[in-house]
Amino acid sequence: MASAFFGLYGCVMAALSSTLGVDFGTSNSAAGVAVDGKPHLIDIEQGEQTLPTAVFFDFDEKQIVYGRPAQAALIGGDEGRYMRALKSLLGTSLMRESRMLLGKRMDFIAIVGRFLGEVKARAEAATGQQFDRALSGRPVMFHSSDPARNAQALTDLTECYYAAGFNDVRFMPEPEAAALANRAYLAPGDLGLIVDIGGGTSDFTLFRQQGEAGIDILGSNGLRLGGTDFDRQLSLSHVMPYLGMGSDIKHEFGGNTHVAPQSMFADLATWQKIPFLYTRETRRAAQDLARHAVQPEVLARLVTVLEDELGHDLAFAVEAGKIAANNPNGTALPEIKLDMLERGLHLPLPAAMMAATLAEMAGKIGVVAQDTVDQAGMKTEDINKLIFVGGSSLMGVVDVALRRAFPKAEVHQAAALTGVVDGLALAAATAFD
Ligand SMILES: Nc1ncnc2c1ncn2[C@@H]1O[C@H](COP(=O)(O)OP(=O)(O)OP(=O)(O)O)[C@@H](O)[C@H]1O
Ligand SMILES: [Mg+2]
Repeated sequence: MASAFFGLYGCVMAALSSTLGVDFGTSNSAAGVAVDGKPHLIDIEQGEQTLPTAVFFDFDEKQIVYGRPAQAALIGGDEGRYMRALKSLLGTSLMRESRMLLGKRMDFIAIVGRFLGEVKARAEAATGQQFDRALSGRPVMFHSSDPARNAQALTDLTECYYAAGFNDVRFMPEPEAAALANRAYLAPGDLGLIVDIGGGTSDFTLFRQQGEAGIDILGSNGLRLGGTDFDRQLSLSHVMPYLGMGSDIKHEFGGNTHVAPQSMFADLATWQKIPFLYTRETRRAAQDLARHAVQPEVLARLVTVLEDELGHDLAFAVEAGKIAANNPNGTALPEIKLDMLERGLHLPLPAAMMAATLAEMAGKIGVVAQDTVDQAGMKTEDINKLIFVGGSSLMGVVDVALRRAFPKAEVHQAAALTGVVDGLALAAATAFD
């Protein structure tokens, strides 16, 4: 659609800025530019305006595949290495860990750089324009309470943009971008709170609609908690026990037992950690556990998952179960389907069970939303509107927690997956002025 748009209105191209607005998300990414003061999103993947932030190193074809085809390759069982939620590695030492992939030594700066380079190339192909600069979104907090890690995460992400081929990059907090894009929902004088609950973080911006004068940003805040953490918690509570988490392991000598160590299960439940588990050492450790387990048939599932590299398949099954349980009127049953482990193994996940598992996390999100307002010297009852963006703002538990925290505010559900990139596209036009 984008190329048709630019083909038809070729004259518009001169008005485009050479700065690309990029929302590099934990789960989904998108890019856009401003055209005549309006956001124009790039057709980034065959008619889609969002691209799953996923890469697949295809060992047979010796190439890197991005987005939905990466997911299809994983599910199809192609030979290769799949990675998702790479944004969550920013600011950690794992970012600089390198590995051999397709005959090259690469660290995660280079891998994220490849992904962003693909976004750049697709945007250039769709618009016929070169983008040397980027206005990138950033979470308010990459790491909730660790300033050094937050600073490192921003350094890492900046390096990734350079690795992608951009000459310069500036950053805008993601919820501020969403405020810019959604300001029209507020009447002049209204106080609005952007509630952006994504895959990796929850982000808030408090702003006042000033009418013709634009918006006044009064404060932003955030925490490292999003949909991938919901997946992790659901996996730990409902799936990992089926793989042996919490089960007893016999000591080599004597009759004593101890509980299987937690760390392997914790990593398996964490999207961005899964690729790090596929090593000879972890596979051997899992086999050892199975050999000494009181219930070896349960630990055997862990061995299978590591040997057949089914960690992401499990994570997708949990995510699908979460979305199904969150939508009781949908066609999908509220359950986690583990056929990849054992044909017909489906774990029920009724809505009430899911809500109970995630209630504490949703409560934390509500508290930080209230803190955003407190820190700006405002009162929760002053807020007229809550504007929801981000895929996890569709979660019932989040909705309940936020309505409880702001009982007087009206809730507006904005475009869940494009609310941030719309604002970045708008702001890209003047980001380097
Ligand atoms: N219908 C739905 N119901 C519940 N959750 C959903 C739904 N659709 C998507 N999600 C969840 O939303 C999350 C992705 O949201 P989004 O694309 O806004 O994140 P992101 O922008 O990539 O992440 P971040 O901004 O935190 O870096 C995933 O965890 C996904 O499971
Ligand atoms: Mg986001």
